Amino acid sequence: MSHKTVPMHRYSIFYYLGGMTLFFFLVQVCTGVLLMLYYRPSADEAFESIEFLVTAVPFGWLVRSIHAWSANLMVFFAFLHLVSVYFLKAYRAPRELTWITGALVFFLVLAFGFSGYLLPWNQLSFSATKVGTDIAGVVPGFGGWILRFLRGGDRVSGATLSRFYGWHVAILPAITTVLLVAHLLLVQVKGMSVPRGVDEKPPMKFFPHFALRDLFGWIVALGVLAAAAAIMPWELGDKADAFAPAYANIRPEWYYVFMFQTLKLVPGGEVLGIEYEAIPILLFGVGALVLLLVPFLDRGRGRGWTIAGALALAFVLIMTCWGYGWLTP
Ligand code: HEM
Repeated sequence: MSHKTVPMHRYSIFYYLGGMTLFFFLVQVCTGVLLMLYYRPSADEAFESIEFLVTAVPFGWLVRSIHAWSANLMVFFAFLHLVSVYFLKAYRAPRELTWITGALVFFLVLAFGFSGYLLPWNQLSFSATKVGTDIAGVVPGFGGWILRFLRGGDRVSGATLSRFYGWHVAILPAITTVLLVAHLLLVQVKGMSVPRGVDEKPPMKFFPHFALRDLFGWIVALGVLAAAAAIMPWELGDKADAFAPAYANIRPEWYYVFMFQTLKLVPGGEVLGIEYEAIPILLFGVGALVLLLVPFLDRGRGRGWTIAGALALAFVLIMTCWGYGWLTP
């Protein structure tokens, strides 16, 4: 750390975003472990165990609320970090692996969100998981297999809950930790990138100068997180009922809304035995693959990748706003 320096130029502010994401990840680990002490992963007890936690356990409501808020802030900051390193072209050699480990962690973060959403076993999460896993079932060829793999059966049931719990508290944390350690080591070994053509000032020593600034950001983040969690405690809703009519206005978490909205626009029907819906699903898969491999696809000439990135970002933002009904008067 004593050798590490951080380049100083007009975009240096973006070097704080990775550290900020790391802060929320650490909060997730600490609060997640505390939640595990009370949570029971079964269809009969999951909802009640959280109800007990938030009503009877001292500060249980706060720990749960912080976990939920921090999860959303982590996705948000991971997304900002990804977008900023993309447009600063920090993925270019020699940082290809830094990018790839980061992109893989980003997909895992989304999987954390999807698996965690079901755990309170309330109406909203139950319906959203049903719809979300139904979408996976549309994939040509393997759809049925993916659907049963995710649900642990044909329907969303207690078996799905056990499975999502296993992913959420064991499998995903284990893989994420390994990839995150690799990511942070790579940042250390490869050093920070400097965007082409910017005027550089003398670099800043990472320790103690940049680290103290990071810490200042973390303290502000802790304040915002604590305030949000205390003033707007995360709701629990009503217990899931498999026989209740489908929940009105069902919508996934905000970071999946752009895909959900795109799929809503696709008419029913099929061509050559493939459902129309499968086409955008496959395109999203290709998009994720292109994102992962962008360091090897961008040959460094022209502005093509910047324009493609801007169009993709505009698509995600517009579809999200549309999904929330913000585009209609
Ligand atoms: C939990 C998720 C993540 C954590 C905790 C994390 C953490 C960090 C940290 C602490 C840094 C050094 C400071 C900085 O540049 O911000 C960094 C750099 C970097 N990260 Fe991440 N990261 C995460 C996800 C991602 C994602 C999703 C991507 C892209 C797909 C990514 C790609 C990069 C790259 C390319 C750098 C080098 C930046 C440069 O040299 O300018 N990271 N990351």
